Amino acid sequence: METLSATESYSRVAGEYAAEFYHELDGKILDRTLLKRFAESVMGRGIACDLGCGPGEIAHYLYEQGLTSVIGMDLAEGMIEQASRLDARIPFSVGDMLCLPVQNDAWVGIAAFYSIVHFQEEQARKAFAEMYRVLQPDGLALITFHIGEGSVRRDEWYGQPVDITWYLFDVDDVGAWMQAAGFEMEDVIIRHPYPGVEHPSRRAYLFARKKV
Ligand SMILES: C[S@@+](CC[C@H](N)C(=O)[O-])C[C@H]1O[C@@H](n2cnc3c(N)ncnc32)[C@H](O)[C@@H]1O
Repeated sequence: METLSATESYSRVAGEYAAEFYHELDGKILDRTLLKRFAESVMGRGIACDLGCGPGEIAHYLYEQGLTSVIGMDLAEGMIEQASRLDARIPFSVGDMLCLPVQNDAWVGIAAFYSIVHFQEEQARKAFAEMYRVLQPDGLALITFHIGEGSVRRDEWYGQPVDITWYLFDVDDVGAWMQAAGFEMEDVIIRHPYPGVEHPSRRAYLFARKKV
């Protein structure tokens, strides 16, 4: 039997994922509002990264808001190929959130939309420690995830064999892991799912700052 990592799985379905999700923000007013706030907060202060960018729809939206210093990073090469094809103005590259190929204090902002969702606690804590390390003082992180317990696994997606597990999180747990990494929480926003637009889970958006 074939053994697949989540990253290989994402590369395999990257084209179909991009086709389904690239314009998803059109139906998500809160996401657009919070991304505008993120863009305004970091504008003109350095590089902001769409981390775990997938096909790059968050980076694309931020660029359209005037945040032309945005970049994107993802571990799945197939996703980076899609992101680069879909918006050639933005630098996209392969990189691991658990070991970022970036110097300390390199970025002013990180928007990580549903990219911690494949981690369990230990890896999530490591990802937050890496985010904290690469953010400059007063840098801002915006993290989103599905609220709940347990996990959901897929072994088939768009007609292809995959092996991907999504973990749901408790909001206070994630806040505590971020604080343990050094972040100061600014805002925690929770919303109900948009019917017919997305998976029916409640969503969390955490704004957190690197205070030093
Ligand atoms: C649910 S998708 C979200 C993609 C995009 N941010 C969005 O909102 O549509 C999760 C993404 O995280 C990426 N990812 C998973 N583990 C990663 C890691 N260790 N480093 C970087 N990216 C990772 C996957 O390749 C995938 O593109």
